Amino acid sequence: MRNVNADSITQAVVRSFDGATDPRLREIIEKLVQHLHAFARETQLTPEEWQRGIAFLHAAGKISTDARNEFVLASDVLGLSSLVDLLASGADATERSALGPFHAEGSPLLEVGGDLKRDNEGEPMLVRGKILDADGHPVPGAQLDFWQAAVNGKYWQQDPEQDPENLRFRMVTGDDGVYAFTTVRPAPYTVPYDGPVGDLLRAGSRHAWRPAHFHFIVSAEGFNALTTEVFFADDRYIDEDAVFGVRESLLVTPQMGSDPVLAQRYRLPLPFHSVEFDFRLCR
Ligand code: BEZ
Ligand code: FE
Repeated sequence: MRNVNADSITQAVVRSFDGATDPRLREIIEKLVQHLHAFARETQLTPEEWQRGIAFLHAAGKISTDARNEFVLASDVLGLSSLVDLLASGADATERSALGPFHAEGSPLLEVGGDLKRDNEGEPMLVRGKILDADGHPVPGAQLDFWQAAVNGKYWQQDPEQDPENLRFRMVTGDDGVYAFTTVRPAPYTVPYDGPVGDLLRAGSRHAWRPAHFHFIVSAEGFNALTTEVFFADDRYIDEDAVFGVRESLLVTPQMGSDPVLAQRYRLPLPFHSVEFDFRLCR
């Protein structure tokens, strides 16, 4: 390989992985090398620019901890995480969207119709819907794993004032596939912007805001698990999510509920905000 030049180097690097025993790994490395080299050729990347890119990755490594992964955040603001979700979304299933860094295992169980808002400040909201299969039939025994930020835009992990079990639950649907709970309407919030990803956003004159959302992981035996988010159509950041997670099909329009029977059943003051969203799972 002593005659490597700007034309032959790409093939030389690709061939150096010919011994990889995992064919999918070989395919991914081959395409990665080809696209990385094409990028350097197309932009005529200079040594100084390469150095800046490496410094960015170095800074991302230094600021990352078990609780903060700056590489995932970089992937998020560059739209790569979202693209991977879009490519993985099944044609008949609810579209996928960001997992984000604030999912925690072992959320407390909440019964269908239970109250999540407890003593949280904010506008009370009834959230209801069904878990359906691709044919529109209810999925009994589906599990929902739910988490959201409080009205101050913070998840419990970011806010010492919040109980570690605040605003998150797991719920199992009955035979009708129905889920329901009361909560408070969440607020928009910013992704962390005090690191190299924040510098990148500023360099692009971009902001760090995400529109308010609910996070769900919906799973059921025999179906593909679905990680997604539900957004509010009237949110001021709905068309400028810093991590590109919004999809038209994931929007809900909050209604003002004034049904006294519902208000009594869910112990809500009148009028109350209400949203409905059905999830579709596929096998
Ligand atoms: C979130 O929605 O929790 C989130 C997603 C991407 C980056 C930061 C936060
Ligand atoms: Fe979030």
